[in-house]
Amino acid sequence: MGAARKGRTKLSANDDPRGIMITRREKVAKVVEGNVIIDIHRGFQNVGEAEKQAMFFRYLDNANSLESVQEYRQRILELFPVGKGERILDVGCGLGHEVQKLAGYVGASGRVVGMDKSEALIAEARRRASEGSAPVEFFVGDAGKLDLADNSFDLCRAERFLIFLDDPESAIAEMVRIVRPGGHAVVFDFDYAGFSVDVSDQALMDRIRKIRMGSVPSPLIGRQLRRLFRQKGLLDVSVAPHVVLPTYALCKLVDEGVLANAVKQGNLSRADYDTWWRELEMAARTGHFVAAWPGYIVGGRKPAAND
Ligand SMILES: C[S@@+](CC[C@H](N)C(=O)[O-])C[C@H]1O[C@@H](n2cnc3c(N)ncnc32)[C@H](O)[C@@H]1O
Repeated sequence: MGAARKGRTKLSANDDPRGIMITRREKVAKVVEGNVIIDIHRGFQNVGEAEKQAMFFRYLDNANSLESVQEYRQRILELFPVGKGERILDVGCGLGHEVQKLAGYVGASGRVVGMDKSEALIAEARRRASEGSAPVEFFVGDAGKLDLADNSFDLCRAERFLIFLDDPESAIAEMVRIVRPGGHAVVFDFDYAGFSVDVSDQALMDRIRKIRMGSVPSPLIGRQLRRLFRQKGLLDVSVAPHVVLPTYALCKLVDEGVLANAVKQGNLSRADYDTWWRELEMAARTGHFVAAWPGYIVGGRKPAAND
């Protein structure tokens, strides 16, 4: 034990961004939550009170900074290129990271709109956008019932979003409805059954995977997207796999609340909870940490008159 402690190195900058450390504001949030760590998964079904918001902002900013997130965004752009003057809708846009970037591609003659259910996230997205010069728009709404005209966008996109919906099919139907004939819809989303971490206890890994899968309404949406897109009438539906590689710090931020709830509900022992995080932390300290969040980029084209 002593030797292990002596051998400890500091977490790398990538694994211990200062942004992940618990701030005083978040300690307040824990108290507000009855001393239970906030469950980000449940939270994204409804980002609510101000006390929790800092954690959601931090999660989204951290995810945005991952190379493997930037890679799938780049791949989406290669598969579904965006040109000057195009109209794009980002559904479940969060803080609007991608909305801002896409505005640069469509230029002043184009239009990029971000929508999200969370007023807090949209307010922050607007505040950030006001500091830049990109002509972007944001609105609060429900992806299952978009307040937008039929056929009014060239591209409708969404990422890391449908897993949080009870009814992802309605959201997909809306995405297809608002795209013009000949336009495209594209989504990146996860398949939680593929979640894995390099740990010694595979039985514990399997239990934790199941707990995570139970923490969101649509954990298998990634693998279902090709079928759902085709059922909604899209043509030329393509599927490209992509694995997001979260840091230890991001895993902790995302899963700590889920697993703490599992302990509270008797679905995970306190000892297993402690073993899990101890092993992950040690892996991060020694530079061995690997976790995988696999998902799929799936997109298709809305039929045009000549199809
Ligand atoms: C993990 S975040 C992803 C945000 C963003 N796409 C990104 O890549 O940073 C999931 C988002 O879905 C939003 N959301 C959840 N349910 C929604 C709904 N019914 N309609 C619109 N947005 C929703 C949440 O508020 C949250 O911003």
